[in-house]
Amino acid sequence: MDKNEILSEDLSRVLGALSEGERAALRGRTVLITGFAGSLGFMLTAFFARYGAELGVKRVYALDNYIFGRPDWVNDIERVPLFFVREGDVTKEDLSFAGDADLIFHMASLASPVYYRQNPVETMDADAWGLRRLLDFYKERGIFNLLFYSTSEVYGDPDPAMVPTPESYWGNVNTSGPRACYDESKRFAETLSYVFHHQYGFPVTVIRLFNTFGPGLRTNDKRAPADFALNVLGGEPIRIYSDGNATRTFCYVSDATAAALKCALRGKYDIFNIGGDSEEMTIRELAEIYKSAGRALFGYSGEIIFEEHADKHYNTDNPKRRRPDLSHIRAELGYKPEVGVERGVERYLRFLKFGK
Ligand SMILES: NC(=O)c1ccc[n+]([C@@H]2O[C@H](COP(=O)([O-])OP(=O)(O)OC[C@H]3O[C@@H](n4cnc5c(N)ncnc54)[C@H](O)[C@@H]3O)[C@@H](O)[C@H]2O)c1
Repeated sequence: MDKNEILSEDLSRVLGALSEGERAALRGRTVLITGFAGSLGFMLTAFFARYGAELGVKRVYALDNYIFGRPDWVNDIERVPLFFVREGDVTKEDLSFAGDADLIFHMASLASPVYYRQNPVETMDADAWGLRRLLDFYKERGIFNLLFYSTSEVYGDPDPAMVPTPESYWGNVNTSGPRACYDESKRFAETLSYVFHHQYGFPVTVIRLFNTFGPGLRTNDKRAPADFALNVLGGEPIRIYSDGNATRTFCYVSDATAAALKCALRGKYDIFNIGGDSEEMTIRELAEIYKSAGRALFGYSGEIIFEEHADKHYNTDNPKRRRPDLSHIRAELGYKPEVGVERGVERYLRFLKFGK
């Protein structure tokens, strides 16, 4: 199976997860996606490029400042007539180019800890000031909904009694450490969403994503699923930069994208966890999955090794466990993740290896 087949299957899975009502809610919409050129933006923009016209979407504005560079796939998106791609910073750009947007996905941020620690001010600005600008700009414009991409990091290092973590948990977060720029700007942005909704009736939904991976995640992203892919594809040892004992759940990107769309199309103020909930595993176990998949797919023969990361704060304030309680999104939106971690890793590695 090559890259295009994997993407096609993933996109049809996203479409298949949407109910008739959710599909109908896309008809006539004008969409704005901020930070579209990042890892999650890849699948969301590919979805609109593949199915947008068929679903009656009127226009998609895609904004990114390419802080990590401009991915090659942006050229394909630019050729899709539905799209208007703009290079710009959500904290500064005149938003009039997208003045008629009525469904907004605000995902501009720096989601990888190594990069947000290098650019903490830019991270806070994109999440907090970027959101404030969007809220101010669209306040009087009668939009359908704004989806704010928050994070499981708002829970900090959760009390073990609160894992799996429900949306009602308040969190245990350091305001002043090397991860604080990300965690606290997301928390501030969640509060901005709350007050704009309650003070002005602004339509906004908050999603808290737990770790995702899959096609679109750049191999130089420096989060573990990307690092391990880079190691396997390069025929190098798989490097773990911690003791490997912290646990996480991992959600394949088509599941996360379908969930995000369902939340956006609900058009109602709410907060939803999005992630995988059935396979909490250590980072070491994730590395084992990459190792086995690499061996089965292309005879990878590397080993797993432990090293210090060049970033001295790599493990500072790193949460010990992460696992979402998905009861709310299951009950309200009928969401259920479909692609398990082993299958997802295999698809991600194939996607990276086979085809341009
Ligand atoms: N991927 C995950 O596992 C995960 C988990 C939790 C939360 N999230 C959130 O979901 C969103 C998308 O995540 P991702 O993994 O795609 O992030 P990413 O870091 O891969 O990409 C973010 C994109 O935003 C762009 N950007 C940053 N600052 C900008 C600005 N000021 N103006 C315009 N564009 C800007 C970057 O150039 C990049 O293309 C983020 O808000 C992130 O915090 C993601």
